Amino acid sequence: MMTKQNSEIAKRRTFGIVAHPDAGKTTLTEKLLLFGGAIQEAGAVKSNKIKKSTTSDFMEIERQRGISVATSVMAFDYAGKKINILDTPGHKDFAEDTYRTLTAVDSVIVVIDVAKGVEEQTEKLVEVCRMRKTPVIVFINKMDRPGKEAFDLLDEVEQKLMLKVVPLSWPIGMGDRFQGVYNLFEERIVLFRPDNKQGRPEETIEFTDLDDPELTRLIGTDAAKELREEVEMIRGVYPAFDREVYLRGAVSPVFFGSAVNNFGVKELLDCFVRIAPPPLPRPTEERQVLPEEEQFAGFVFKIHANMDPRHRDRIAFLRICSGTFERNTNYLHVRQGRKLKFANPTSFMADRKEVIEAAYAGDVVGLYDSGNFKIGDTLTEGEELHFKGIPSFSPEQFRRVVNGDPMKSKQLAKGIDQLMDEGVAQLFTRGVDNAQIIGTVGALQFDVIQYRLEHEYGATVIYEPINLYKALWVSSKDEKALQAFAERRRQQIAVDKEGRMVYLAESAWTLQMARDNHPEIEFHQTSEY
Ligand code: G4P
Repeated sequence: MMTKQNSEIAKRRTFGIVAHPDAGKTTLTEKLLLFGGAIQEAGAVKSNKIKKSTTSDFMEIERQRGISVATSVMAFDYAGKKINILDTPGHKDFAEDTYRTLTAVDSVIVVIDVAKGVEEQTEKLVEVCRMRKTPVIVFINKMDRPGKEAFDLLDEVEQKLMLKVVPLSWPIGMGDRFQGVYNLFEERIVLFRPDNKQGRPEETIEFTDLDDPELTRLIGTDAAKELREEVEMIRGVYPAFDREVYLRGAVSPVFFGSAVNNFGVKELLDCFVRIAPPPLPRPTEERQVLPEEEQFAGFVFKIHANMDPRHRDRIAFLRICSGTFERNTNYLHVRQGRKLKFANPTSFMADRKEVIEAAYAGDVVGLYDSGNFKIGDTLTEGEELHFKGIPSFSPEQFRRVVNGDPMKSKQLAKGIDQLMDEGVAQLFTRGVDNAQIIGTVGALQFDVIQYRLEHEYGATVIYEPINLYKALWVSSKDEKALQAFAERRRQQIAVDKEGRMVYLAESAWTLQMARDNHPEIEFHQTSEY
């Protein structure tokens, strides 16, 4: 017999939507929430993108921070499933946030703009999914606009994203001639009425037979002929959809539609709830953790500072990986080796937050935190587990940190410490001179750090330029060789916040030299090696 816990877990579908900015992620999210009844009107989900022109506008950064707390997790019920959408920032300077969020999802929907095809950010994000074998569904958006031919786009997806694809819906025309989609999954046709903006399902016209003369009459002889030919071609070229292969991350179903017109979205959602994986097992350094285990375990994948600088507490986002998490219950904070309990764990429902009594594997809860957590921390019922797969990435931009106000050195140290725990950037301390160096993925973070240190900690930071190309974690099977290397390259050796040894390369050339001269040393792009 299925326990309450296990039937709850079986209902969870936790996923993220990833896209290059402007492809339509916010619009699609909103339509999904509308179907789930989580919001009542369009426009309720704010776009969390930072507009290019406002990168130095701190109000904009604060606004964006506020929105990204609110939209971190959006939960809704649909077709008997409990769906959790985890928000991912599209801006490339926040790519690391997105990578970390992808450790907390079980599957992903990728949105692609039909006119632009596969864009840079999408390539990087899907690469992370591929590495983790996360099942991916592709949604080709903006079919109401002129764009690339459907077959060409599928080729592009296969080549650039290195995903094998199988179309599960097929567009009938595009742009002005966009007439609808053929749902290959359910073998029926849904016709598009551009006047029917909300796309209420009962107003679509459905056909199950491609040879129906009524269909020819409605979409025209040419379009009907083309559709029949294309469907035949699809059946010849692409394999039949196999859910097991999709769940292994080895094939990606593709849907076509127009999010803003709410067209093709229901097809996507209906298929998603049928094929997407329930909560998946998660690796720890010790063992595999299964969702149905009786005991609770989870990890923190994101930390958000409070928007109100007078309250220093933060929200730590915990992905529950096994069992049931309960309010006011003592759990082991594995890194600190002590028990903590939470009086107000929060769930997020689109536009509101709610204190919850219990949450299950697959769910994400927000925990109020006064500085106990950092990214990657594990909570359990007592077992000492360490979840894997939450690495830091080698940063690409560096500044040396200098205290701008000698009276506030404590505040500066505390502020930097906490911001690093939040994962805003990484701190390296160079051995020879104790120089503190902050490394980030994008330049925008430096502005964010400076602003937040000033407003939340009352500290002044001055950045000095430093000529660095990359910071790479180093290791060796031969401990003595590693020590010898560190001694010889003293000028370039630093430690990260966890005390791991890092090599600071000034240029691609010096890095290559170090690699050539020290084959016994391994250089790592991520902190998990
Ligand atoms: P993002 O979160 O991925 O960055 O994209 P977002 O949903 O904000 O969409 C980017 C723009 O694309 C928006 O227009 C949105 O209305 C439009 N859009 C989304 N889906 C479709 C679609 O299916 N067809 C067409 N033609 N446009 C679509 P905007 O002008 O930037 O903003 P707004 O003023 O319309 O909100």
